[in-house]
Amino acid sequence: MRFRTRPECKRWISPGETPSPSAFRLRHAVAGRYGVRNSVSTIETDVTVESNYLRAVLAQWASGVVVVTTVRADGGRHGMTASSFTGVALDPPLISVCLVSTSTTCRMIRGSGVFAANVLGHDQQNIGRRFASPVWNAATDRFAAGQWDTASTGAAVLTDAVAWLDCVLTACHPAGDHTIIVGAVQDAATPRPIAPLIYHDRTYHEGIVR
Ligand SMILES: Cc1cc2nc3c(=O)[nH]c(=O)nc-3n(C[C@H](O)[C@H](O)[C@H](O)COP(=O)(O)O)c2cc1C
Repeated sequence: MRFRTRPECKRWISPGETPSPSAFRLRHAVAGRYGVRNSVSTIETDVTVESNYLRAVLAQWASGVVVVTTVRADGGRHGMTASSFTGVALDPPLISVCLVSTSTTCRMIRGSGVFAANVLGHDQQNIGRRFASPVWNAATDRFAAGQWDTASTGAAVLTDAVAWLDCVLTACHPAGDHTIIVGAVQDAATPRPIAPLIYHDRTYHEGIVR
């Protein structure tokens, strides 16, 4: 197996190969571009893997699917599909999602300071697709699918989600072109504990038998 470096490196680097001075310069150039000087990943990484290749490798990781919702500045609701959901801590109760920093949802969570994560069931693929679609306006209201309620923070929760967690934003950690959003759980529920929706290799799967 070999890794394709970013286009600016213009060559292949094999695992185990000692990074050349140009690779060293490259990783500092990339680190500078993303403003992550002195981070552990910057110092430890010898090569920068080309992003389409990295996407294909990461697609082999299976995950559940959540819809992250938040409150718009005008009081309306917004949300997007995400697979980067993780439980972070039990005491205090913290969860995280990792969102593209330029996504509307990420910007709105920063603005409102609240969000909810809704875990989708195996039969809710349509909701996953809808909230991932880049097109959204009055005619293509993402919330037109599913029954939605309002949790205590004001974020929308799916009444028949497998589970939902309603959170107050506690931290935003920049991570390259993404932001790790950490929230303190204010309320949580498991309205419909059925088999979850699974996402693997860019395909939805109906999940484990439950
Ligand atoms: C299954 C699935 C999982 C996704 N997971 C993430 C994720 O974890 N983080 C992210 O930034 N985008 C993720 N996306 C892409 C967003 O859902 C998509 O870019 C969305 O249109 C963003 O909406 P917004 O710009 O209105 O916030 C995922 C898409 C799919 C289909």
